[in-house]
Amino acid sequence: MGKPVFLIGFMGVGKTTLGKKLAKKLSIPFYDTDIEIEHEMGMTVQEIFAEHGEAHFRLLEQKWLEGFFNTSAIVATGGGMPCDEKRLSLMKSLGTVVYLDRPVKELFNRLLNAKKSRPLLASMSDDEMLEYIQSKLKERSFYYNQADYILNRSQQDANFISTLLAHK
Ligand code: S3P
Repeated sequence: MGKPVFLIGFMGVGKTTLGKKLAKKLSIPFYDTDIEIEHEMGMTVQEIFAEHGEAHFRLLEQKWLEGFFNTSAIVATGGGMPCDEKRLSLMKSLGTVVYLDRPVKELFNRLLNAKKSRPLLASMSDDEMLEYIQSKLKERSFYYNQADYILNRSQQDANFISTLLAHK
């Protein structure tokens, strides 16, 4: 039985889009942890943050990982999921962790149109969001950079990753 590949990285980097393509190419299941948690709770991520707070959402992320049936799959994770010793080591012990790295400015441009669906960004002005991405990415890089693979923009491609995984 194969192992899961966890795609990690900042909000808006494209974990879900790339994850779906990769899973299709490899003919293995795809999971998006935000969607899994939304289904389990019967609430959107925004509703979970608003009603129960971020700390509770992190607990749900951890519970989801602990209950994950270890099998061959591509898992797109929420941007904050690996940013904790316990959750990160759980992911690394379960499978392969792949970080999708992008510069701040690119993340900012990608998130301009998509911030409404992210509770951490929804109420921010553009300037505030840029500052937030800068400081949050700095803080989270400590965790993101512990991934098994760190991919730059040109490597964030289903063909590239499937070749990389095949030669592992
Ligand atoms: C979060 C990222 C979101 C989602 C939640 C919190 C974060 O997922 O889990 O809004 O802390 O970075 P995406 O990275 O898929 O947007």
